[in-house]
Amino acid sequence: MTAGIPSSRIDTSKPHPARVYDWLLGGKDNYPVDQEVAEKLPAEARANAARNRAFMHRASAWLAGQGVDQFLDIGTGIPTAPNLHQIVQAVTPGARVVYADNDPIVLRHAEALLVSRPEGATDYIHADVRQPDAILESAAELLDFGRPVALSLIALMHFLPDEQDPYGITRTLVEALPSGSHLVLSHGTADQHPELRRETESAYRKGAISLRMRTRAEVEPFFEGLELVAPGLVTAPEWYREEPAPVYERSGFYVGVARVP
Ligand SMILES: C[S@@+](CC[C@H](N)C(=O)[O-])C[C@H]1O[C@@H](n2cnc3c(N)ncnc32)[C@H](O)[C@@H]1O
Repeated sequence: MTAGIPSSRIDTSKPHPARVYDWLLGGKDNYPVDQEVAEKLPAEARANAARNRAFMHRASAWLAGQGVDQFLDIGTGIPTAPNLHQIVQAVTPGARVVYADNDPIVLRHAEALLVSRPEGATDYIHADVRQPDAILESAAELLDFGRPVALSLIALMHFLPDEQDPYGITRTLVEALPSGSHLVLSHGTADQHPELRRETESAYRKGAISLRMRTRAEVEPFFEGLELVAPGLVTAPEWYREEPAPVYERSGFYVGVARVP
């Protein structure tokens, strides 16, 4: 399904965030232009991507365990098993999951996201988060917005500069969710390794990808009006609900899960 943006072909002349991230995770769905950006990033970027993905696994499984059975994941990325629907349907086979991304390569691989368990359902929307109303309208074809939904914006909002209003877009999405819903968000930061900030920003800038890493004080407003669940707004390895705790290492991502009151 396409919402608001035309379906477009894969452009291998310019790097794309989904493909750079795929390279960082050890995937094969990337091109030399993407590898050029990824190789300029600090070596720690690979571990940071893996820790971010591991947070997505833990938070999604926890929410499914809490009885949440509807998920809207925007900025999905190239499918990397296990994907969100595989994680939540392992807990709740009937869970419904809608994915959305604006990158044509994710659309190309969307079939892998559409292999739902028969008890549940998945859908994919080719859409840009900067058009949140179009995403909500399409997502409503599979999700019932009269019941709680978990909205995930994982490693997405740092691609939106302040002037594109990432906070306002998040608010629009959250306001469409009923009480008992959750926001799951992770966001790039250089707070724990300020010495790597310049190298990271410059690698993306050279690839003409806008990257706005944010400080803790700048990430907090994404959760305005919501109730952060324990352990609150923390770095990726610090968010866990089940023992054993992941090994603590410094991280390039702040993460949080918050409930809509
Ligand atoms: C770093 S990847 C994160 C993938 C996945 N959420 C994860 O954390 O494992 C960021 C994803 O956001 C997508 N993205 C970037 N800007 C976007 C936008 N304006 N609208 C929708 N998706 C976007 C990219 O195409 C990419 O797939």
